[in-house]
Amino acid sequence: MLGVTEKKEIFNFFTTLVEKLSGISYGKGKEYLIESRLNELAISLGYKDIKELYNVCRRRADLKLLNEIVDALTTNETYFFRDRHPFEALKSHIFPELFKKREKEKRIDIWSAACSTGQEPYSIAMLLLEHFSTYLRSYNVFIYATDISKKSIERAKQGLYHQIEINRGLPANYLVKYFKQEGSYWRIDEKVRRMVKFEVLNLLEADLKVRQKFDIIMCRYVLIYFNLDTKKKVFTKVWNRLKPGGYLFLGATEVPPVTLPDMEKKTIGRTICYYKKDQAS
Ligand SMILES: C[S@@+](CC[C@H](N)C(=O)[O-])C[C@H]1O[C@@H](n2cnc3c(N)ncnc32)[C@H](O)[C@@H]1O
Repeated sequence: MLGVTEKKEIFNFFTTLVEKLSGISYGKGKEYLIESRLNELAISLGYKDIKELYNVCRRRADLKLLNEIVDALTTNETYFFRDRHPFEALKSHIFPELFKKREKEKRIDIWSAACSTGQEPYSIAMLLLEHFSTYLRSYNVFIYATDISKKSIERAKQGLYHQIEINRGLPANYLVKYFKQEGSYWRIDEKVRRMVKFEVLNLLEADLKVRQKFDIIMCRYVLIYFNLDTKKKVFTKVWNRLKPGGYLFLGATEVPPVTLPDMEKKTIGRTICYYKKDQAS
């Protein structure tokens, strides 16, 4: 059992470390969550408990260990077609508009900027196959999906989902059409899987690591874990990766932490998104 002072010291050490590395800000009241997740990680790595992990980190923490700690402290909650209405807006308004607008380039770029285990980018890929397959024959549609959590990205690449994950949000006709059953798991079809490129990426480094620009950016339910200053910095880095004429989505309960001159709030059906003004508009 850890004493109160020891607990506080360990909590402060790990919260400071994780915030510096990932932006994720753990306020007071999260001590139990941190302790239980890091105890589990410590044991899986062959240490006795969180205290031994703490001592190791203070002496010599290599990059691999630091990444495992960050990974253990991320919250990867997600599901297919989360909130539904952003996907309705993509289908009814945004994709039809973009396919028209990008007629010359014949290219559309999409970024799922904190994709967790892949349900978000795969939902977009399935929506495209289901409703825009004619365009897919002549357009190059690139879906880039990134997350700081290596474990989540590895799972996303596998495209293998448990029945419980399937039950959350995936319409039955999509299950029949785009998945194959493997025991109590379902594997996503290869044609959906190969539409998405997954990579581990820390959004704090988005300006340095992501060079290209996107027509659609999904940056949903990730800024909520950052403090206001980090929210502003990350949002601006992500916004800078949006092409003029492109759309950015936040989570349904989120608002942009900054207002930028080229940003226009748009309501499409039941969803709100942020449009980057282009010269023509
Ligand atoms: C709650 S999930 C949201 C997943 C998905 N966007 C959705 O809306 O369903 C938040 C994700 O943000 C990721 N994350 C947290 N900090 C990050 C950072 N600094 N860079 C990239 N991803 C981060 C976590 O690993 C986690 O998978």
